Amino acid sequence: MKIAVIGSINMDLVLQVQRLPQKGETLLADHFKKVPGGKGANQAVAAARLGADVTMLGALGTDGFGDELLEGLKKERINTDGILRTETPSGNAVITVDEQGNNTIVVFSGANFDVTESWVYDKLELLQEAEWIMFQLETPMETVEKSIQRLKSQDKKILLNPAPAKDLADTLYPMIDIITPNETELALLSGTEDIEAGARILLKKGVRQVVVTLGEKGSLAINKEQIIEGKPYQVKAVDTTAAGDTYNAALLIALMEDKGMKESLDFANAAGALATTRIGAQSSLPTRNEVLELIKKD
Ligand code: RIB
Repeated sequence: MKIAVIGSINMDLVLQVQRLPQKGETLLADHFKKVPGGKGANQAVAAARLGADVTMLGALGTDGFGDELLEGLKKERINTDGILRTETPSGNAVITVDEQGNNTIVVFSGANFDVTESWVYDKLELLQEAEWIMFQLETPMETVEKSIQRLKSQDKKILLNPAPAKDLADTLYPMIDIITPNETELALLSGTEDIEAGARILLKKGVRQVVVTLGEKGSLAINKEQIIEGKPYQVKAVDTTAAGDTYNAALLIALMEDKGMKESLDFANAAGALATTRIGAQSSLPTRNEVLELIKKD
C-alpha cells in the first residue's frame, strides 16, 4: 500500500499549562516537551505506523531541528529522498495544552515555505508508485495547487486535508477526490455552519467525497449519493494535537484496504481518538494493533 505525503514538517515545542493563557498574560508551564510534528509529517508517520509504505516530500533547515526531524522520519521507514534541506530554519510550532486537553498552536513555517512546485516536479519520480497523495495547507498554496494539477494529470488520487483553514481556489475542487475539513474549516470553505449544506456546496464545486471530522462526536462522510456516520470512540483525552492528522492517514489506509466507507470512518475515528490519549504529535500516533484493540474493545 503506497502513499505519498506532500507537506509540512515542524518541531513542536509543547508547554503543558493548567489553563490556556489570556491576552497579555504570562503563565508558568508545568512541563515542556520537544516533539516532532507538522501536519504533513504527522500524517506520514501515522500512515507508516498503520502499515503503509510512505514517501514524504517537504523541506527542512540545515539546523539541529532539521537533523532530528529527518532522523525521526527515517526511523519510521519513510522514504525521505524528497526532503529538501535549505538555509531557512526548520518549521516549528509553539503549542500550549491545558489540563482538559485543549490546545493553541502557533506555527512558524520556516523551511516549509521552501517547498515549491518545481521541487515537487523534480521529485515526481519518487511518487510514481503512490496511488494516493495527501496534502494539507502548511506549505505554499501555489505549491499545493500546481502540484495537485500536475499529479491529477498523472491519474493520482488526491486527499486534501484543508488545515489550517484557508480559502481554496474554485479550480482546485474538481481535482480533489476526498476533502477532510473539520467543522470550522468546512464553515470557512462553504460559508455556512450547517454541516450537510456546507458539504453539498463543496460537492457542487466538484469534490467527489467530503468527510467532516467532528472531534469527539466522530465523523461524517457525505457525497452526492449518501451520508454515512462513523462511530465515535470514548477515550480519556489529554491532548488533541495531531488527532486530525492521524484521522486522515487512517481513513485513507482503510479505504485503500477496500474497507467500506462506514468501516473506514470507524477505523479513522478510533485512530484519531487514540492520538488524543497521549501528549504531543508524533509521540501520540497509534500503531495498527492499538487501533484494532480499541475497535475490538468498544
Ligand atoms: O496538526 C498538529 C500539527 O499542527 C502540529 O504538530 C504542529 O506542528 C502543526 O503543524
